[in-house]
Amino acid sequence: MTAPGHDHPKIVVLDFGSQVSMLIARRLREVQVFSEMRPYTAWREVLADPLVAGIVLSGGPASVSDPGAPDVGAELWRGGKPLLGICYGMQLMCHALGGRLAPAANREYGHAELEVLEPDALFAGQPARQPVWMSHGDRVDALPPGFQALARTAEIPYAAAADPARGFYCVQFHPEVAHTRHGLAMIEAFARRACRLEDRWTAAAFVAEAVAEIRDQVGRERVLCAVSGGVDSTVMATLVDRAVGDRLHAVYVDNGVMRLGESDQVQRDLDSFLQRPIQRVDAGAVFLARLAGVTAPERKRKIIGETFIDVFTESTRERGPFGFLAQGTLYPDRIESHSIHGPSSVIKTHHNVGGLPERLGFALVEPLRDLFKDEVRRVGRELGIPASLLGRHPFPGPGLAVRILGEVTAARVSLLQRADHIFIEELRRSGQYDAIWQAGAILLPVQSVGVMGDQRTYENAVALRAVTSLDGMTADWARIPPDLLARVSNRIINEVPGVNRVVYDVSSKPPSTIEWE
Ligand code: XMP
Repeated sequence: MTAPGHDHPKIVVLDFGSQVSMLIARRLREVQVFSEMRPYTAWREVLADPLVAGIVLSGGPASVSDPGAPDVGAELWRGGKPLLGICYGMQLMCHALGGRLAPAANREYGHAELEVLEPDALFAGQPARQPVWMSHGDRVDALPPGFQALARTAEIPYAAAADPARGFYCVQFHPEVAHTRHGLAMIEAFARRACRLEDRWTAAAFVAEAVAEIRDQVGRERVLCAVSGGVDSTVMATLVDRAVGDRLHAVYVDNGVMRLGESDQVQRDLDSFLQRPIQRVDAGAVFLARLAGVTAPERKRKIIGETFIDVFTESTRERGPFGFLAQGTLYPDRIESHSIHGPSSVIKTHHNVGGLPERLGFALVEPLRDLFKDEVRRVGRELGIPASLLGRHPFPGPGLAVRILGEVTAARVSLLQRADHIFIEELRRSGQYDAIWQAGAILLPVQSVGVMGDQRTYENAVALRAVTSLDGMTADWARIPPDLLARVSNRIINEVPGVNRVVYDVSSKPPSTIEWE
């Protein structure tokens, strides 16, 4: 399928393996430039694509002088497309075009002050001195013929350089990370000035194109989809619903490990903006029976995944026939950003419904496959989905099962649902909910001693987890006000029988993960 956006002029990010390569594509999208990330090995194809208006060469962990270091062919430097080299991309460009690199004495990492010497295309309208973020070993010691310095720092003479006549730009620092204060403006300047890209990638245009393409793809067939009440599947289902109307059949499976009152809420929400009611399948008993006695996290995930497929297949068998299965797969789900040597993009099985497409054998409709999470929210707004739903925290497919350490029983699910509900309710009341990327309570497999009235107690401990993040790949623990934590703790211990201790998780990711299992 040609996904919406595939016939737009675009900027391609060639990935050389930096941890933050995907951020470059994302920043371009933020300034309404359609962009894609490809492994550097795809450079020839990218160069030949007439829709590619410019190419960004990302950073990467290698040194240009390493044997077998990632490289591209000389055609790229003769190809006539504007290029922006970032960090490793700069070193590669300067090395290939006849400049000289100095090996690293030691790695420069962290903040630096950039002094702009020549605003040219990249720095026009920005302060002459501005903070940037460095993370590099090697640096450029002598520029290639035709290049001029655009900016320097106290440490390096060529923090940015260009050969504007050929459309070649390079920066040693990372404009894509938030610490580089004017990085977004630089990235926008490259796209709009150096690449002369005028096309605007907007949510309204996306919706119109996606609807037309879904209609085109699906023809007169019927489409089946699973919805979870989360942002991705809701936006996906709404788009498909717009496109095919009552030929969409949306199914919600309650797996028994959802949050308190969640299934009713999801049903109400989806019934209010889809053209037909969803099919709700209450299968909690089946899931809990299969989870009985299981404590290993991966085993829980596998059981939930398999049970989901069984329940979904069984409960939709009589509703067919269907020609297509629609999924809310996003761009980051499809990209294995660190497999830069591998195939152009490794498709991961969507982790919530892993195996479903293979099992059902339907063709896939994936209208969100080129979008980042924040773009899905924008598309959702465009579709009139309420902000309360679009702002919902992510919730894992295996639900509370991976937040109940140890065995998952109906009683333990109910206890955790109540504790979690109090936490989320207080976050909303205090206005903290929207500032937090994801929050929830975890039921620990320990009991500890407490005292209530004159009685010693020996009961469960609950951990609270709240993180700030951009995309869930890295996260920091949220600095929730202590008074709020106190209120949550008091309420949980007073209102949830079986809990006598509440702790707050102060671990960041990495090295911890967001979920405890
Ligand atoms: P971790 O725990 O790996 O989580 O830091 C990162 C994000 O992914 C979510 N997550 C899952 N989502 N199925 C899902 O659909 C899963 O098995 C799963 N495990 C983690 C997690 O909630 C967080 O948003």
